[in-house]
Amino acid sequence: MNLNYDNYMQMVAEVRKKTDFKPLIAVTLGTGLGNFADNIDVKAIVNYDEITNLPLSTNPAHKGRFVFGYLDNIPLVLMQGRLHYYEGFTSEEATRPIRLMGFLGANTLILTNAAGGINTSFKPGDFMLIEDHIDAFIPSPLRGNNDNRIGPRFIDMSEPYNKYLINKIYLRAKELSLPIQKGIYVQYPGPQFETKSLIKMFRGLGADACGMSTAIEAVASNHQGIKTIAISFISNMACGILNQKLSDEEVQVEAKKSENNLTLLLKETIKIAYDNL
Ligand code: HPA
Repeated sequence: MNLNYDNYMQMVAEVRKKTDFKPLIAVTLGTGLGNFADNIDVKAIVNYDEITNLPLSTNPAHKGRFVFGYLDNIPLVLMQGRLHYYEGFTSEEATRPIRLMGFLGANTLILTNAAGGINTSFKPGDFMLIEDHIDAFIPSPLRGNNDNRIGPRFIDMSEPYNKYLINKIYLRAKELSLPIQKGIYVQYPGPQFETKSLIKMFRGLGADACGMSTAIEAVASNHQGIKTIAISFISNMACGILNQKLSDEEVQVEAKKSENNLTLLLKETIKIAYDNL
């Protein structure tokens, strides 16, 4: 059963027992941003396992917690340890922390991830502002019973990622000489990396990058009326684009190399989001 509004209000009350911090912006930290919380004046930390109904990440390297604090004077909640569909959660379960951050007060969500580049004009180390996504390969987090107090049964998805903010962030990244792109992201279930044929198909469908997260999170946030932005870090070219094998080690190494750029881009994105709340 999908959680309903009352379930979320109970979860909010559980968080409030630990902290009364009210975030305005929520950030999901993807690969390469594990240390981003070091930039924040931390006010409180709440682990997923302290909250009813939040699943625990199956990856012991993922912390599974919310970090509340300020970047400059901007009140943030950071989600350290995303839940993936490939871990065995339903899409609805995997997006519960996203929804909770919204119910805690965040009206803008910034999603980050590592992705494989499909567009041949991209290169590892680039960033891609997600303009739109293809989610037809993954079950919707909205499947099943719908609580109208959270959002309507049928939602418009003609602009899942805020165009105005995308353009602002793009221009700022250009000013800072960061390697910035825009494009379409496709989420597939994983956890195996893609085959060459899958990438050929994705390219035919118009995708510029692929990965195993994010689209379902953006569906949940749009359902809830949260303004959404998403940034992919292109850690590698997708299977078959270059004549080389894919590995998680390569993803981690590239993310480490680009950590400074990632941190800078995310800080600027947070500031732009705050200036346009
Ligand atoms: N495919 C899927 N997910 C990924 C990739 C990829 O090539 N790189 C980083 N995350």
